[in-house]
Amino acid sequence: MKRHPAINGIKVLLGITGGIGAYKSAELIRLFMKQGAEVSVVMTRNATQFITPLTVETLSRNPVGTDLFSLSEERSIDHISRARWADLMVIAPATANYLAKAAHGIADDLLTTISLAATCPVLIAPAMNSAMWDHVTVRSNLEILTSRGVAVVPPTEGELACGEEGVGRMADPEQIVAAAAAAIQLHDLDGVRVLVTAGPTREAVDPVRFLSNRSSGKMGYALAEAAATRGAEVILVSGPAALDPPSGVTLVSVESAREMLAAVRANLKACQWVIMAAAVADFRPSAVLESKLKKKGRQGLSLDLTANPDILKTIAADKGNRLYIGFAAETEDLLENARAKLEGKGLDLIVGNDVTERGSGFGSETNQAVIILRDGTVERLPLMTKRELADQILDQSMRCWQSGDVDG
Ligand code: PMT
Repeated sequence: MKRHPAINGIKVLLGITGGIGAYKSAELIRLFMKQGAEVSVVMTRNATQFITPLTVETLSRNPVGTDLFSLSEERSIDHISRARWADLMVIAPATANYLAKAAHGIADDLLTTISLAATCPVLIAPAMNSAMWDHVTVRSNLEILTSRGVAVVPPTEGELACGEEGVGRMADPEQIVAAAAAAIQLHDLDGVRVLVTAGPTREAVDPVRFLSNRSSGKMGYALAEAAATRGAEVILVSGPAALDPPSGVTLVSVESAREMLAAVRANLKACQWVIMAAAVADFRPSAVLESKLKKKGRQGLSLDLTANPDILKTIAADKGNRLYIGFAAETEDLLENARAKLEGKGLDLIVGNDVTERGSGFGSETNQAVIILRDGTVERLPLMTKRELADQILDQSMRCWQSGDVDG
């Protein structure tokens, strides 16, 4: 079986509800334990009709919870302590009845009561007859749960307990363990505050004109979304972009490089990670005209430009135990130029972007990048969506952060 390092050492609270798929829960417990997890099981009364608490207790080597009103069970470990104990809650199989109760906050047994108290990531593996799975009520309950961040391993197609063929069988235990690894990884940024910059800056020439660049903001918004999904508190400082901010992210809108610097400075203290995906204009017109520049009588025009502050370099000068991640948009000598920017700006990680590659760089949905760490590690990535690249960047950033290799 594939190794899932994210599972090693975690505490899994497995909820088993009353469906025929409950017999696969024995295998699920075994697989979680093989991956190095500790497993504690709570069963509904109906689940005990399909698999005995003795089997489950023997396999998990932990007392099984079945009854909210059992004095002996509650004395040894009460429902709130069970909820707090878990790093991950997995409900497999999850019946339509469980989905309905969990979606609407009904807490009428031990498992649904714990579900209401749990603050850890939750993964559910629904299993039911295909007519029930297709029912609008089940779908809307599932939507409520997923909108609250509950992860789902959908049922698979095959012969159902009733003899019919269709979608409704609980996913295989190996699939559930893989989904559990993904669900726990998704929350690896819990408690981390991340400042992301995105989009272009606009440098005013006169009241109607500005200097800018081709950045759409897609890369920075993808990073903000990925970080928020993985549990981070995200502040997104964005230049003008025609994009909706990802949900749960605090948006600070700016126009010019100097406004971006001020917004970054104002939010810097609160953040542990800074990711600068914005394409900041290096120069601005030295003077902004008060009225519209007229073309009448002019054969040509020269603009006098002044260098903008280098935002990353300015803020990274005071490391403050923060992780600084930059981008390098290059048209030639990608590695060499990106490395020089990593060094010159005092960064922990830089994402080199050859913006001449097809489907890469400004405005596209995809991006091709090379990630360079301060310790010299180079990871060349294939073309992928900006959202996928965002996760790769966060994975590498997390490695730097956890290794403590952050220049304090
Ligand atoms: O927005 P999209 O359309 O999705 O396009 C994505 C992108 C191409 C803009 C993005 O992937 C990218 O490469 N962003 C960085 C663009 C850039 O300005 O690169 P640079 O090599 O000029 O700057 C190096 C780093 O210094 C960047 O992190 C930049 O944000 C930062 N910088 C640059 C100039 C400046 N005055 N202050 C800065 O902080």
